[in-house]
Amino acid sequence: MKAKHSDGLRILVTGRDGQVGRELTRSLAKVGEVTATGRDELDLTSDHAIRDVVQEVRPQLIVNAAAYTAVDKAESEPDFAQRINAEAVATLAAAAETVGAAVIHYSTDYVFDGSKETPYVESDRTHPLSVYGRSKLDGEKALAAAGIPYLVLRTSWVYGGEGKNFLLTILRLAAERPVLRIVDDQIGAPTWSRDIAQATASIAERWRHGKFAATKSGVYHITAAGKTSWYGFAEEAIRLRAISAAAKGTKFARLVPIASADYPTPAERPRNSQLDCAKLAREFDCRMPDWKASVAAVVHVLQ
Ligand SMILES: NC(=O)c1ccc[n+]([C@@H]2O[C@H](COP(=O)([O-])OP(=O)(O)OC[C@H]3O[C@@H](n4cnc5c(N)ncnc54)[C@H](OP(=O)(O)O)[C@@H]3O)[C@@H](O)[C@H]2O)c1
Repeated sequence: MKAKHSDGLRILVTGRDGQVGRELTRSLAKVGEVTATGRDELDLTSDHAIRDVVQEVRPQLIVNAAAYTAVDKAESEPDFAQRINAEAVATLAAAAETVGAAVIHYSTDYVFDGSKETPYVESDRTHPLSVYGRSKLDGEKALAAAGIPYLVLRTSWVYGGEGKNFLLTILRLAAERPVLRIVDDQIGAPTWSRDIAQATASIAERWRHGKFAATKSGVYHITAAGKTSWYGFAEEAIRLRAISAAAKGTKFARLVPIASADYPTPAERPRNSQLDCAKLAREFDCRMPDWKASVAAVVHVLQ
């Protein structure tokens, strides 16, 4: 467990080694004293580990960035996904109550079925298409039922300069193969893990100054501004990579747009993943950058 010191809140972060978790460790250090836990220190499948760590750290705020995120694999291990994404959230919330902590938790666009034509607002009907989406929705419900101050931040299409994500996979494959076929009929907003973490820090700061008012409790959408398809995301990432000095002389794949039906996966994905983030702007004065600006920032520093 690592602790960073500054005046302020005691914050417990889970999922330290994930895309969002590793960025949170940095961003939240400006807000308080962060204890960031990886799976070794806090395995969410262990109820007593959750209770012990919360008792030991006695946080005022818990930010839960750990999750079972293997969307396709979840179809064949639903109990495990449910254990981490829903049951562990209930245990974490109960443990938070014993020390009076507020909880910030992340969820996903996959709680929706994507049949809406316009961006989803927080109050829209949920209807997950996959085991992962259902387990995340159950996690949202478990937190809401706990009766503690909480925020559920639903995001989408998370990527960054490290970890396992679409951006890094596509850039690698594009340098290895002559042609890549990419789904063009799912629309959403690629969201940089660092933008999520920085926004979370700003939200945490504001919420704490409001004494973690339960009146702010609820679900919020937090994605990059703008929209694209997976094809559009890949096209922009490769365009930026091709003009970077690090990729000099590399020949990149030709991209071919395809329909979801031509790329079957174990888990079905929503066609429309757009999330309306107006509530976040209204309640926390928090606005996320446009997806293209953040992709450019990430690709710019890749080696
Ligand atoms: N990735 C996306 O595209 C996406 C989209 C929408 C919403 N979200 C949500 O955003 C949040 C952050 O996602 P992310 O992209 O940062 O995920 P990630 O990179 O997959 O990181 C998840 C972290 O959770 C940890 N973890 C998994 N099982 C655990 C367990 N039993 N005990 C403790 N830790 C465990 C993993 O540990 P190991 O490193 O040991 O495996 C990993 O470090 C999650 O709530 C996710 O559902 C993600």
